Amino acid sequence: MKILLLGSGGREHALAWKIAQSPKVEKLYIAPGNAGTRGAGENVDIKATDFPAIKDFVLKNGVEMIVVGPEDPLVKGIYDYFAADAATSHIAVIGPTKAGATLEGSKEFAKGFMQRHHIPTARYKSITAANLEEGLAFLESLEAPYVLKADGLCAGKGVLILPTLDEAKRELKEMLGGMFGDASATVVIEEFLSGIECSVFVLTDGRHYKVLPVAKDYKRIGEGDKGLNTGGMGSVTPVPFADDAFMEKVRTRIIEPTINGLIEENILYKGFIFLGLINVKGDPMVIEYNVRMGDPETESVMLRIQSDLVDLLEGVRDGNLDTKELVLDPRTAACVMLVSGGYPEAYEKGKVMTGLEQAAATDSILFHAGTAQKDGQVVTNGGRVIAVCSYGNSKEEALQKSYRVADLIDFEKKYFRRDIGFDL
Ligand code: AMP
Ligand code: GLY
Repeated sequence: MKILLLGSGGREHALAWKIAQSPKVEKLYIAPGNAGTRGAGENVDIKATDFPAIKDFVLKNGVEMIVVGPEDPLVKGIYDYFAADAATSHIAVIGPTKAGATLEGSKEFAKGFMQRHHIPTARYKSITAANLEEGLAFLESLEAPYVLKADGLCAGKGVLILPTLDEAKRELKEMLGGMFGDASATVVIEEFLSGIECSVFVLTDGRHYKVLPVAKDYKRIGEGDKGLNTGGMGSVTPVPFADDAFMEKVRTRIIEPTINGLIEENILYKGFIFLGLINVKGDPMVIEYNVRMGDPETESVMLRIQSDLVDLLEGVRDGNLDTKELVLDPRTAACVMLVSGGYPEAYEKGKVMTGLEQAAATDSILFHAGTAQKDGQVVTNGGRVIAVCSYGNSKEEALQKSYRVADLIDFEKKYFRRDIGFDL
């Protein structure tokens, strides 16, 4: 089978690496991909949201399956675009319909969905300029800190956590006034939940599901989870507190009500569901839904899937995921992200990377996130540059290997966190 994978980050390199291992794959294309995905398939210079160009390409090249990495094309309706056109309706799109993608595209919709299906989540109120007074009163009824979420997609920047009531009230008005453009014309105010977070990934054909390895990511730039939010500085799987008892609650209280809720609401969903969960004294609660895999969780999760991912994706396409087997590697996998100095604020690109060959000769696995090929050399091309991923018989062993390899790779102003997994 010929497959087209959409996206260009570390998540997509990890997916490409795993897909390329399948004997079912005749050819893998990645659009647009990065310097690393070249090793797994052929990069195609098309943007992941350019649906007409994607259609053209898949028809010309006999692509039978499109795997969607990022949320953008899903929220913009790539599934529906291909399904509605007689010329492309035979091509499987792995990802939800536009309606399904609203679970990530609108926080208000996601909260309403959870309320309708009794899925545990923080208490909330959805506010616009028209009911601002209600929002201010709701804030007064809550205790600090205060959580404000822009309804729409904000490239991961739409959540504010404010320490005082005054700041919360001021920021609420700022958000409604256009802090994130249209995305914050509606704001969800939430009760703050205290606990440790984890990422649960579910693959579903719309009826049946498989739970992929549970991971934890590290979003802050600084050690000890301090400083600004980033796209993710590292990840570890498995997560010790997500034990059988916890996962049984996740299945019965969250995953099954989510899939049944989608069916009840006539929302077709064939793809990945990413549950951002928080463990509140042993009880899982949903912080957010995403309609894709996580980054940098995918970089360690893919290491732990032993089954043929393409076989599982065929199960998603054909609606018989229940007949497929998901075999996991019992080892720990950990990934450390090397980033450009200055990130997530201003940083420079185009720095020559050295040590990649030495790093590739180790048993760690490198997933490129922001790299490019220039004059025969690999250069940095983003804030997050490359993820170093390793197996270990323990978290410590996996991380030690990743850190050793992280030291082999160099570029000007390289930075990485040395405390990934510190809280597990
Ligand atoms: P993101 O949506 O990934 O930009 O980040 C949101 C982050 O804010 C989550 O990963 C949590 O750490 C935090 N967060 C969101 N909602 C809540 C909540 N209700 N209680 C506590 N923390 C929250
Ligand atoms: N690692 C969190 C995310 O992908 O949104």
